[in-house]
Amino acid sequence: MDKFWNIYVILLVASNLLIYAILSHWFRKKTLKHDFNRLNKCNNPQISRWFILFFYILVFNIIYLTIYIIFYNDIETYKLTFTKKYQKEISETQKNYDPIITNYFTHSIKALSKISKALKVGQYLFNNNCAACHNSDAKGKVGFSNLSDNSWIYGGNPNSIRQTITNGRVGIMPAMSNILGGEQAIKQVASYVVQIRTTKNNINLASGGEPKFKTICVACHSASTQCNLALNSPNLTHGNFMYGTTQYDIEETLRNGRKSIMPAHKTLLTVEHIHLLTAFIYSINQYQE
Ligand code: HEC
Ligand code: HEC
Repeated sequence: MDKFWNIYVILLVASNLLIYAILSHWFRKKTLKHDFNRLNKCNNPQISRWFILFFYILVFNIIYLTIYIIFYNDIETYKLTFTKKYQKEISETQKNYDPIITNYFTHSIKALSKISKALKVGQYLFNNNCAACHNSDAKGKVGFSNLSDNSWIYGGNPNSIRQTITNGRVGIMPAMSNILGGEQAIKQVASYVVQIRTTKNNINLASGGEPKFKTICVACHSASTQCNLALNSPNLTHGNFMYGTTQYDIEETLRNGRKSIMPAHKTLLTVEHIHLLTAFIYSINQYQE
């Protein structure tokens, strides 16, 4: 079928070129002259430079099409060898690395996190699949979690990390302006959240925010301001906020809410790869169970 369409297109192009060549040659010779009551209509023939240029294009096309027809089969063979070469390289790599990766799969995450060669493979997988969002040093950036600060929304034990990578996560912090009842309240609560971690703040503003925090926010962020793993809401006492720690950043979080999506990787990576990635993430934290 492919071959049929190729020939069809070649014939169509060739016949078009031929008809155009005949027509332009014919018009070149012809000079129309109509006399409409002293108004003359003339047909200026194509200037010869253009006609020569067209002639070259015509010759080039004929040569190109001929070469294409002659070598058509070779092009197909060339494409085939290229694909085969690629597939061969992939299967050779798999043959070399699959047994190693399958062997690592039999180790526990804790054991793997002490085998430097396994961690190197994990880091390689991380650079290829995760660094675009979490940065190559795994320290994250605005909107993307820091994975090396031993502070978690979804838990840092091997199972939780594996779950996060396999099935992904969606974190939603609802917009709070309506619930808090205006800008002044947003400023007060934001100031209180800043004050939880630092004393350098507007004490009056923060003390106005404290009761509001303790009635509204604790539903998700827990009374002790520790992270609430059951509700997947972050710890507001540590320094690494995904969306920034300044008064301005927190006001923005409260005013408009935040939504974060960690994509599921179960269709992108094998369980063995996810195992190695889990070990890598686990190893760069000093998680205490
Ligand atoms: C498209 C961007 C993106 C990619 C790619 C991505 N992540 Fe994430 N990841 C996120 C976001 C955003 C969050 C925060 C989710 C939330 O807060 O609900 C997150 C959260 C996480 C968490 C949970 C952190 C916590 O506090 O509990 C882990 C673990 C994680 N990612 C690991 C990985 C690994 C490993 C990879 C590579 C296989 C990866 N991520 C690839 C965007 C990404
Ligand atoms: C319905 C549950 C819920 C309530 C109520 C809630 N939060 Fe949140 N909050 C979350 C979740 C879940 C996240 C994490 C969002 C994400 O992963 O992107 C979050 C994130 C945040 C963050 C951003 C942390 C970061 O890493 O940048 C701040 C700050 C915050 N909340 C403060 C508050 C304050 C202050 C209140 C009360 C006015 C409040 N939250 C009420 C669930 C809630």
